[in-house]
This record gives sequence, C-alpha cells and structure tokens, in this order.
Amino acid sequence: MVSNCFPFLFPLLMGASASIKTANGFLIISCMYVLEKRKTMARRLSFLFVLLVLLNLGMAILVMAAPSCGPIEANDKDRIQFALNLEFLEAEFFLYGALGKGLDSIEPSFAQGGPPPVGATKANLDPVTNRIIEEFGYQEVGHIRAIIKTIGGFPRPLLNLSRDNLATIFDEAVGFKLRPPFDPYANSINYILASYVIPYVGLVGYVGTIPSLVNFTSRGLVAGLLGVESGQDAVIRTLLYERALLPVPPYGLKVADFTNKISKLRNDLAMCGIKDEGLIVPKQLGAENKTESNILSADANSLSYSRTPPEILRIVYGSGNESKPGGFYPKGANGRIARDFLAKI
Ligand SMILES: *[C@@H]1O[C@H](CO)[C@@H](O)[C@H](O)[C@H]1NC(C)=O
Ligand SMILES: *[C@@H]1O[C@H](CO)[C@@H](O)[C@H](O)[C@H]1NC(C)=O
Ligand SMILES: *[C@@H]1O[C@H](CO)[C@@H](O)[C@H](O)[C@H]1NC(C)=O
Ligand SMILES: *[C@@H]1O[C@H](CO)[C@@H](O)[C@H](O)[C@H]1NC(C)=O
Repeated sequence: MVSNCFPFLFPLLMGASASIKTANGFLIISCMYVLEKRKTMARRLSFLFVLLVLLNLGMAILVMAAPSCGPIEANDKDRIQFALNLEFLEAEFFLYGALGKGLDSIEPSFAQGGPPPVGATKANLDPVTNRIIEEFGYQEVGHIRAIIKTIGGFPRPLLNLSRDNLATIFDEAVGFKLRPPFDPYANSINYILASYVIPYVGLVGYVGTIPSLVNFTSRGLVAGLLGVESGQDAVIRTLLYERALLPVPPYGLKVADFTNKISKLRNDLAMCGIKDEGLIVPKQLGAENKTESNILSADANSLSYSRTPPEILRIVYGSGNESKPGGFYPKGANGRIARDFLAKI
C-alpha cells in the first residue's frame, strides 16, 4: 500500500505546483481510506506518521520554492511598456558600441528625463561588425518611437552598461573569476558575446506577450517588434556560430562554451526550466533531436521559447528575484509591472 501511494506523494514533495497538490490531496485521502482496512494498528500509525512528515516537508518546500512561471495579470499598455525597458537597454548598448554616443544624442526626448546609462562606451569593432551594430542601434530607436507613439513611454531607467557589470555576468556564467576581467568593449568577438546576453531576452519576452494582448493594434506592434528582435538575435548567433569552436583569447574557453554557460545562467536565474540554449547542445535539445548544432534556440517543435515579465526581471536584474534590482537595472525597471514587483519588498 505504501508503495502504491508513494508515487502520488512524490510530486507533492517536489512542490511541483498548486494544482498537483490539490490532486494529491484526493489521492492521499483515498490511499488513507484503503489503509483503514488494514488489520494492524501499528502499521497504520507508522504510515500516518510518515505521511504527516512527508506532508510537512512538502508544504515547507511549497512555501519556500516555486517562483512564479505562470501568466501575470496586466493590460496591453503595461505589457508593451514593460518591453520598453529592454528596448532602452538594447538601444544604448548598440548605439554606444557602434557610435560612442547614445539615445540622448539621437532622440533626446525619448528618454523623458531618465538618467544617462552608466559605463556604456564605443567598442573596438571591425568595420562589418560596426555597421551591423550601428544598424541594430538605429532599429532600437525606431522600436522606442513606435512604442511611445502607440501607447506612451516613461523615463528611461538607470542602466548599468559598465565593463564591470558585464564582467560580473560573465564570471557568474563561467563560475569563476575570469583573468583579466571580461571586457565587452575590447574587440568584436567580446562585444558580440556581450550582445548574445541582450536581445534574446527581449525576443522571448515578446513571444510571451503576444498571446496575452487583446487589442489588434497592440498585437500588430508587438509582432513587428518580435520579427526584428528575432532577426537581430539570429544575426548575433550566426556571427558567433562561425567562430563557435575558436577560443576567446586570453581565456581557454571557446565561443560556444561561453554561449552555453550564459544560456545556463539565464535559465538558472529565471527558474522556469530550459528556455535558453547555447550554440552547441546535446542532441535532445537540437532540432528534431537530430543535431547538436543549435544556431537558433527553440523548443522540441522548434518554436521560440517564451518568458513572462517576472522571469525576465530575474534575469536582467541578475538577482534571480523580480523584486530585487541590480545587474543592468541598478534601481529597477520602469512601468507598472516592474514597479509593482519592487513595491512588494
Ligand atoms: C555597475 O555594476 C558594477 C558591477 O557590478 C558595480 O560595481 C557598479 O557599482 C554598478 N554601477 C551602478 C551605477 O550601479
Ligand atoms: C487599441 O489600442 C490603440 C492604441 O493604444 C487605441 O488607440 C485603440 O483605441 C485600442 N482599441 C480598442 C478596441 O481598445
Ligand atoms: C526529442 O526528445 C524530447 C525529450 O528529450 C522529446 O520530448 C521529443 O518528443 C523528441 N522529439 C522528437 C521529434 O523525437
Ligand atoms: C526577493 O527580494 C526581496 C527584496 O530584497 C526580498 O524581500 C524577498 O525575500 C526576496 N525573495 C526571495 C525568494 O528571495
């Protein structure tokens, strides 16, 4: 009997989700009912004891863990404005990287008085990479304009684009302190690796947003943003893929190793399973389980992964906690969704 009940208790122990917990409630009751028919009192008591211990443990884990991976409540305006945080980040990173100047030199009104980014600077890029990144930067300016025009904007949040911030992210990804510290602005390959960190998060966010939008105009806007965002991600991944097996000097690690480790870091921070894959993966994660080559990151049916705003905040704050700002957003992201999480502190 105990062994029959055990599989039902196991998911409860793992604290999988509230709905499984409810289902288990019934299963446990029926397990106990059958148990009533057992003759020996001792056996019954010891099983009940084990059950109580397991239930307590399960409850404790339920309370502790289970960050939210499910949908959030928000209207179209809040959802699209949430994305504006990421568009500001991308715009500043790309514009500074390619041109040595940011949004305040190009469309100063868009920042609505928000503070300038910290530590962003011109990157030492080869001419082709420079032209690609310059174009991406202008595309982000267009994205910000489209969002502001359609639903309205908000002040640009404080952005940390310093070498130290990117170096910290890379240290966390590889699991030790890189010597010398990783410098995103030092050369093309470092800059493209740093770029791997950014648009993908916007892309999976847009995939997550579209199904929740009710308004035709909002859906059209986000579909248009998603198309270009995923194009940018594909270009960045292709540039990296061409060099996947080359080492990133002076570190022993290869380009593909860095992508795999950054993707793993993002999965760990978001705490909602695998939704982010590097350039070379085990076949079970490759397209149709048939290839280790993974130039695009996608699920078992090669559909884009999607992420919710709390997952994204856990990643871009680098804290694994949507209420604890840091990383790219030292003072938190703006807009109702992000500010509500901060208010919960
Ligand atoms: C930016 O990030 C670095 C590295 O974590 C940190 O030392 C620095 O204080 C941050 N800057 C701001 C303005 O938060
Ligand atoms: C959809 O959103 C647009 C832009 O915010 C707005 O002008 C329009 O009135 C909305 N339509 C409906 C049916 O809510
Ligand atoms: C690939 O493997 C995963 C599990 O690793 C499985 O869920 C999926 O159905 C497989 N896909 C195909 C096409 O065999
Ligand atoms: C998230 O951060 C907030 C603010 O620092 C803190 O109150 C809360 O306990 C943290 N949550 C978890 C699960 O660590």
